[in-house]
Amino acid sequence: MAMIFITHDIGLVAGIADRIMVMQNGVAVEQDVADRVLDHPQHDYTKHLLRAVPHFTAGQSVRAAEEGKPARDPIVTVDDLVVRFPVGKGWLKPKGAIHAVDGVSFDLVPGETLAIVGESGCGKSTTARALLGLNSVTRGRIVAGTGHSKRPVQMVFQDPFASLNPRLNVEALLAEPAIANGQRLDDALRKRMAFLLDRVGLPQDALTRYPHQFSGGQRQRLCIARALMLNPDVVVLDEAVSALDVSVQARVLDLLIDLQKEFGLAYLFISHDMAVVERIAHRIAVMFAGQVVEIGDARLVLSEPQHSYTKRLIAAVPAVERRRQHFTVDMTGAVAGAAPWL
Ligand SMILES: Nc1ncnc2c1ncn2[C@@H]1O[C@H](COP(=O)(O)OP(=O)(O)OP(=O)(O)O)[C@@H](O)[C@H]1O
Ligand SMILES: [Mg+2]
Repeated sequence: MAMIFITHDIGLVAGIADRIMVMQNGVAVEQDVADRVLDHPQHDYTKHLLRAVPHFTAGQSVRAAEEGKPARDPIVTVDDLVVRFPVGKGWLKPKGAIHAVDGVSFDLVPGETLAIVGESGCGKSTTARALLGLNSVTRGRIVAGTGHSKRPVQMVFQDPFASLNPRLNVEALLAEPAIANGQRLDDALRKRMAFLLDRVGLPQDALTRYPHQFSGGQRQRLCIARALMLNPDVVVLDEAVSALDVSVQARVLDLLIDLQKEFGLAYLFISHDMAVVERIAHRIAVMFAGQVVEIGDARLVLSEPQHSYTKRLIAAVPAVERRRQHFTVDMTGAVAGAAPWL
C-alpha cells in the first residue's frame, strides 16, 4: 500500500517516511528522499522546521526543580480518585463499568507543572475532567484552590478550533467566563481583557475579530487568555499544544512558562509528546490503565524510569535521528495483565 502521511511531527516523519514533501503557503518548497531532506535541507523553511523540533534528551534538559517547587502547601490534592463509566445497560453487552480512573492520587503546588503521560485511553482526560467537575466521581477526594478564588481551576483543550464559539467575537469570548460568574462588562473587565491579550502576544484590535480570523497558534493563545480571565490557581492543559506545528508550539510553550512564573500558576499538563513534557514539566506522572504507575521528579522519571511501561514509553519516543524505524513496541503482555474492563 502506498501512503501519504500528513503531519507536523518531524520525528515521526523521520521514522516512517521514504520521501518527504515540505509545504509552505500552498507551495511544495522541497521534495526529496527522507535522508536528504533531513540531513541536507535546502529550503530555509525546512531548515527552520528542523531547528524547531523539540529534542528529547531523556531528562537532561528539564526545568530546574527548585524553580517550581518551593516548600508550599498544595493548591490541588487528589486522593484515591476513582471514575467508572457504566456500559451496556441494554441488550447485547453485559452490564458493567469501564474503570477509566482507578485510584489516582497526586498533589500540585503553586508555580509547579505536573505532566501526565500515558497511552491513549489510560484515563488522562478523565482525571483532568474530574478536577474541573465535568465528570461524576465514583470515589475519592479532590481539593482545589485557596478558597479565595471562585473558579480555581481552568482548562485549555487540545483543539483551538472547536473550543471557541465561532459566532462570538473575541471580546465576547473573553468576557464570557467572567459574565457567567456574575461580573459585568465594565471598565475593569475591559482592562483585564486588554492586559491578557497583551500578555499572550495578541494585538488589541483582536477584540472585534472572530475566531476564524486567527491562525491555530493565535487561537490557542486566545484560549489561554480566556482561561486566565478569572485569575485561576490551576490551569489544566489537555494536549493543548498538540495541534500546533513545531515552531508555533515552541512559542506557546515559552508563553506558558512565562505566564506560570508571572502568576505563580500551577499546571496539570497532559501530553503524549515526551519532548514537550521534558521542556515544561517539573514532575511527571505516568498513567497506565487508569492508574499512576510512576510519579516523580521529571529528570529522574525520564533518565531513570522505574516502571517497565515508562521504560517502553521512553524507548518509543520518535526522533529525527531514528530513521526508518517502525515503532513496534510490544504492549500485549502488559495490556492483558491490567485490562481496565470489568
Ligand atoms: N463519557 C464516557 N463514557 C464512557 N467511557 C468513557 C467516557 N469518557 C472516557 N471513557 C473511557 O474511559 C477511558 C479513559 O478515557 P480518557 O479520555 O481519560 O483517556 P485519555 O488517557 O485521555 O486518552 P487520549 O490520550 O486518547 O486522550 C477510555 O477507555 C474511554 O473509552
Ligand atoms: Mg485525552
